[in-house]
Amino acid sequence: MAQSLSFKVGCPLINWSEHTFPDGESLVKLESAVAGVDVTIVCDLSHPNSKILPLFFLSDLLRKNGAKKLTLIAPYLPYMRQDKIFHTGELVTAESFAKLLSPYFDALYTVDAHLHRINNLNNIYKIPSTNFSAASLIGEWIKENIKNPLLIGPDEESLQWVKDASQTANAPYVVCSKIRKNDFDVEVSISGLEQYKNLNPVLVDDIISTAHTLIKAAQLLKKEGFVQIAAVATHALFAGNAFDECGKEGITPLITTNSISHTTNGIDLSPLFAKT
Ligand code: R5P
Repeated sequence: MAQSLSFKVGCPLINWSEHTFPDGESLVKLESAVAGVDVTIVCDLSHPNSKILPLFFLSDLLRKNGAKKLTLIAPYLPYMRQDKIFHTGELVTAESFAKLLSPYFDALYTVDAHLHRINNLNNIYKIPSTNFSAASLIGEWIKENIKNPLLIGPDEESLQWVKDASQTANAPYVVCSKIRKNDFDVEVSISGLEQYKNLNPVLVDDIISTAHTLIKAAQLLKKEGFVQIAAVATHALFAGNAFDECGKEGITPLITTNSISHTTNGIDLSPLFAKT
């Protein structure tokens, strides 16, 4: 993503390296001069815990070496789903993560942040924060690759993406209802499909993590008589064996954006960031 962006925008790439000591501690080293330069860091923050300290060290290092404005492009912004106290004693991690990250950068850009109960990144991030939507790119992909599509959002939260993508794809959409019992147990229900039985369903979601949401929705669609189920999502987290499970369920094609590098990547987000 950084390479593709530097090429598109016509700016140089900064050389730096990271060393991990045998005890697991990190050392970052700058190999380019950055004094007086505006620097953009592109960092896939999926599985964030191990990435966040080196990222902070790099930010510190850049500032100490005179970098001017520090912008973070995090194509996947983590911790956004814990946006309320679901069970007594929990933390709203979205807020805490924002508090932690904000001091290290002057601006933040991301795509399809899981904005639900928190409806604007600027409510929790203390730096100017922009959330792009991949919906129109997803809609374009569907328009070009799926004949007579019917877009399906697997839960109420997906409405924001499905509605916009359906406009670009010039196709109808239906949104399911979901109850999540725990990390791996979700129940999905749907109604109003009768009039669309001659269309080809495409599940559209922001995140595929355990893929249980996707799989439950696909099973439901099969029960409704649909044979081939396609899926397009922004963020390919694919925890554990989630990708294989999608394969076993026969979800095909299964396409994601390159916010997180994965074999399913088929939609390039760099045009969104190149505009910044
Ligand atoms: C949830 O609200 C999101 O929009 C996704 O539907 C969810 O994160 C997918 O998670 P999983 O793949 O673990 O079911």
